[in-house]
Order: sequence, then C-alpha cells, then structure tokens
Amino acid sequence: MFSTVLSRTSRSLVQRPCFSSTPNTDAFWASLSAASASKVNPHVVSSGQGAYLTINSTPYLNFCSSHYLGFALQPRLKSAAKAAIDLHGLGTGYRTLAGTHSLHVDLESKIAAFKGTEGAVTFTSAYAANACAVQTIMGKEDVVVSDQLNHASIIDAVRTAGVANKFAYKHSDMSDLEDKLSQAASIASTPKSNGEPRNVLIITDGVFSMDGDLARLPEIVDLARKYDALTMVDDAHGEGVLGRGGRGVVNHFGLDGQVDIEVGSLSKAFSVMGGFIAARQPLIDKYLMGARQRLFSIALTIPDTAALIEAVDMLAESEDLVTKLWSNVSYLKEGFTGLGFDIGNSETPIIPVMLGDEELAREFSRRLFEEGVFASAICYPMVPKGTARVRVITSASFSKEDCDKGLEAFRKVKEELM
Ligand SMILES: Cc1ncc(COP(=O)(O)O)c(C=O)c1O
Repeated sequence: MFSTVLSRTSRSLVQRPCFSSTPNTDAFWASLSAASASKVNPHVVSSGQGAYLTINSTPYLNFCSSHYLGFALQPRLKSAAKAAIDLHGLGTGYRTLAGTHSLHVDLESKIAAFKGTEGAVTFTSAYAANACAVQTIMGKEDVVVSDQLNHASIIDAVRTAGVANKFAYKHSDMSDLEDKLSQAASIASTPKSNGEPRNVLIITDGVFSMDGDLARLPEIVDLARKYDALTMVDDAHGEGVLGRGGRGVVNHFGLDGQVDIEVGSLSKAFSVMGGFIAARQPLIDKYLMGARQRLFSIALTIPDTAALIEAVDMLAESEDLVTKLWSNVSYLKEGFTGLGFDIGNSETPIIPVMLGDEELAREFSRRLFEEGVFASAICYPMVPKGTARVRVITSASFSKEDCDKGLEAFRKVKEELM
C-alpha cells in the first residue's frame, strides 16, 4: 500500500500512499523544488543582539535589528531571567485552563501602569496580539478602515476575522480616510442581521516600519469621533521609543485614553518576545475571556516574562535610555543628511536611506557588509517599485564611535557606487 519516495529536495525518505495517478500531489512537491532552488539563506548570527553581531567570527555593526534600547544584552534583564528560572523553571500553562502565572499578572499590571491604561493582556507575539485585538471583537458584518501601508499582521488579522466590509485608505491621507469613513458609516447605519449595531474600526500602525513616519493620530482620533468609529493603533515600533520615557505614540501625541486599542510588541524596544494589548478594562476582560490566541496557544515562558518585567521597571524608573536613543537618532540623521543622502520622511529611529534602484540598494547593502556594517536592502514588494532603500535602525546601544563607523562606511560606499 505504501511506497518509499526519495524526495529530490531534501533527499529524505518520505512514506506516501501509492495510488495509480497522483498529478496534484506530484505538482505540489515539484513546486516546492522550484521554491527551494530560489531559497535565500540568512546570515547565521552567533552573538547576542548588541551594537555588533558576530557572523562567521567577525563583528558587524548592527544597523538592522529593532533592539532600540539595547535591552537584549542588559545585565538586569539577564539576571531577572536567570533568577526566575531558578525559582519557577521554564514553561507556563494555557492560562485559561491551567492557571495563570503570577509573573504574567505582574507583567500585565506593570504594562498597564506604565502605559496609563486600565488594563493590559500579553501574548507570545505582537502578531498574535493584533490577531486577538481584531478577531475577538470584529465579525463578518462589522467594518474595518485600515491604512494601506499597515503591517502584514494587521492585514492577516482582518482576514482571519472574516470582516466582509474592508476599506484601505491611502497612506496617511486624511481626506481619503474621511471618504472611506463616510462609506463605512453608511454601511453601519443598518444593524447586523441579528439586530446588533455594527462596529467600525480604524486601524493604523503607529510607526510605519519601512519609512519611519508616524500615523497622523490626532486627526485620526478626531475623524473617529466624527464618524462614530473605534480606533486601534499597532505601536510595535513606538513602544519604548516614542512619548514620555517610551510610553508610545499615543502618549507622544498627548492622546492618552483617547485611542480604544493600543497594541505593542515586546520583541523590539523590549528586546525579548511577545506582544500586548492595552485598553480600558471592559475590553481587556473581553480579550481575556474570548481570545483564541490565549485559549488555544501557550503563554510567555518564565524567563521571558521575568526579563520583560525588569524592562518595564527600568523604563518606568528612568528616561535615560530613551534620551540616549534619540540623541543617536539626531546624530545619525544629521550625519546621513550631511553626506548628501535622502532619508525620506522619517520621524523615528528607523532611517530609510533612499536609493531608488533595487540593484543599487542590494549592492550598497552588500558592500556595507564588506565594510563591517549590516544594514538591509529593502526592495519591492516590501516597498513600492523605484523606492528601494537601505534601512538603518538606530539603537541606544551605539556609541558615538559606532555611529561614526557606520556613517564612514556609507560615505565610502556612496563614493564608490553613486
Ligand atoms: C508594525 C508591526 N506590527 C507587528 C509586528 C509583529 O511583531 P512580533 O514580532 O512581536 O510578532 C511587527 C514586526 O515586525 C511590526 O513591524
């Protein structure tokens, strides 16, 4: 009944049932061989995520990861994780069924206190937090209005929620948003088939990760009020970075308490892993009770949670790291502009060094690597055609010498290639 098939790609032995004709499954495996042929292997990093990454025993200036505050190697976070392992071990349970851990409760109340919201709930990624934020409260007959450049995790969240009425407004174009909101309001003027009112939810990234520009949140909040819509901001790149001591984009704009749903990542400025939703308590309770990402998926591990508690404590205690980050941002931005580079409309530590041509961006990134600087080329489809760039992500862990080394490499490669 079973024949042994030798896979051409992996050369492993695979047991498959033997039927007379299997054209569809054959085509599937053949399509994978084609994908394997074009596979790109990432660099293998053998160090922690500090100002430098070790690749093939060589240090490279880390201009490509979102560890904005240098927490990945922070001694206090490492000690907290080690101490928690000694006390509680490693894994935790499915929180709804097997009891929630006191560390999770502690982390969530510290995040809420830091953010100044009534409550917070954590997940193992911001991807899952976005999925929960949308899927738990939005269904087929509700309406989503979303910035066209929102992160893929938001697009997936809206798809998974099965929302039929979806509008994408032109990136940060408030008159297009208003146009879409007026269409959404007209749909929402009739109730759902079960007689309940429809939710209209505006979703935006706080910081757009390819360009480093900010959402026009004050205008979005005003329009939401005018058209009776809820608001959600995915602040993955703003938490720990923007606002007073890193309290996020909502605080940056002085809008505390005026955005219904704030999603944050715990893997970027917080340098560990996970995501959270911060909101008013009734909504947090809804998420605590109904989130499929919580009911059917495991919670953060013990060391992750303990390290994150320490990170939130450090941010609550002092604004020094955030201040250092922003002083590096100013230094690098002035440096790039002084070298004649176009750095787009960045308002954040994400600095897109605009090159336009894709081949040039790839070659630029490759040459920077030879000069000891790791900065990724960002090309279509991640950004529109003709807007390829090398993206630099700033960290508080850089010294002035590190910034100078990076700028010197960009100067040298520019002179060579442009
Ligand atoms: C805007 C935005 N949202 C969400 C995510 C997902 O974050 P996480 O890695 O914590 O799942 C990312 C990650 O790149 C992001 O840039």
